[in-house]
Amino acid sequence: MTATPRRYHITTFGCQMNKADSERMAGILENMGFAWSEDPNDADLILYNTCTIRDNAEQRVYSHLGRQAHRKRSNPDLTLVMAGCVAQQEGETLLRRVPELDLVMGPQHANRLGDLLEQVFAGSQVVATEPVHIMEDITKPRRDSRVSAWVNVIYGCNERCTYCVVPNVRGVEQSRTPEAIRAEMEELSRQGYKEVTLLGQNIDAYGRDLPGTTPEGRHLHTLTDLLYYVHDIPGIERLRFATSHPRYFTERLIKACAELPKVCEHFHIPFQSGDNELLKAMARGYTQEKYRRIIDTIRSYMPDASITADAIVGFPGETEEQFEKTLKLIEDIGFDLVNTAAYSPRPSTPAALWENQLSEEVKADRLQRINHLVNQKAAERSQRYFGRVEEVLIEEQNPKYPEQVMGRTRGNRLAFCAGDINELKGQIVKMKITEVRPFSLTGVPV
Ligand code: SAH
Ligand code: SF4
Ligand code: F3S
Repeated sequence: MTATPRRYHITTFGCQMNKADSERMAGILENMGFAWSEDPNDADLILYNTCTIRDNAEQRVYSHLGRQAHRKRSNPDLTLVMAGCVAQQEGETLLRRVPELDLVMGPQHANRLGDLLEQVFAGSQVVATEPVHIMEDITKPRRDSRVSAWVNVIYGCNERCTYCVVPNVRGVEQSRTPEAIRAEMEELSRQGYKEVTLLGQNIDAYGRDLPGTTPEGRHLHTLTDLLYYVHDIPGIERLRFATSHPRYFTERLIKACAELPKVCEHFHIPFQSGDNELLKAMARGYTQEKYRRIIDTIRSYMPDASITADAIVGFPGETEEQFEKTLKLIEDIGFDLVNTAAYSPRPSTPAALWENQLSEEVKADRLQRINHLVNQKAAERSQRYFGRVEEVLIEEQNPKYPEQVMGRTRGNRLAFCAGDINELKGQIVKMKITEVRPFSLTGVPV
């Protein structure tokens, strides 16, 4: 007789880092004998991998957690885990707020989930938020996609953007060795993955903490070198990377992207603001002129590259004129997508303490105006695909229309066409684009 396996459910909030961490934690749980439960209410262990980038992200977590804490009162065997960035930020105070929690663990402890749970099952309530050197993970992540995978290359962030909690919750930069990254990618290729996105909060910092310099005094390991180093892995047909920082983005990297056929012509480079004074107050370390030069250089090598970014509106002290400079930048550059957000004051960040905060009304108004422009520009940018043949890597069935499959172009736009997912999953389909929308395309296979 076999015992029914214990079941787990993970809910993930936040960015790709958290998604990648969740996949590794799921792998650890499955290694321990847990089986996935689609419905959290059937699970014996529930893990929230949390985000605190803005206040609304943090509040979302508490409403979910509250429901399961309630369930635990009638079901004491339920194990409740709070992982990720809210866990790191709040630490022990979470146990006072939600005493039903069994484990509170920061993102740097994700690979230690197994050990931490052993302590929980031995009867302890555990908090793991001290800074640690992140160990290489030896279990296999349970990845959501069979086609496209994330691979962390650098953890943490050493920047000090004045609005941002990430350095507080993710700790200092720590690069993985090129050998470890390549080994993970080779394993992915054996499993049939076709696309890899290399991940870092500031991926241009990759390698700064690894030993060695070139005769010219450059770091031996940079993102550019890494791209050359992993480019020949057979089976991996596409490479992407995110997030780029304008302060450190180099022409050498742009050249490598133009030269290496597997590297997709898509750049995600947040600019945050189009006003130099605000950029300074944000401690971003570049000007809007420098940002424009980077985009010009990218386009001189790859005229069709898609450019996406993040921007914040309503940063403390932002005047209407300064906000309009952000709009102007969007107007001039023509982004394929901009993730926008109203500034949200975060604990233990400098800007949260400044007195020149803007009202919620002003922030909401600016957010609406910027989004309107972003959509308009994305629609214009989509037009260039009309009638063209695009290579689309098929990932999934279209959830809305099951007779269609969906995937992404090299420029990272969602694209749909008629087809059977069982046949096409993981294939690169050439399709002629017959319909364009701001953020997605429809085509017919050619
Ligand atoms: N490392 C990346 C971004 C990480 S956070 C970078 O340097 O660009 C993702 C995005 O959230 C940021 O680009 C920023 O636009 C937004 N963001 C971060 N902190 C914020 C805050 N306090 N309020 C509003 N938006 C914020
Ligand atoms: Fe945050 Fe700045 Fe680091 Fe990005 S670079 S994670 S915005 S501190
Ligand atoms: Fe959120 Fe943490 Fe990512 S705060 S955006 S999940 S690094």
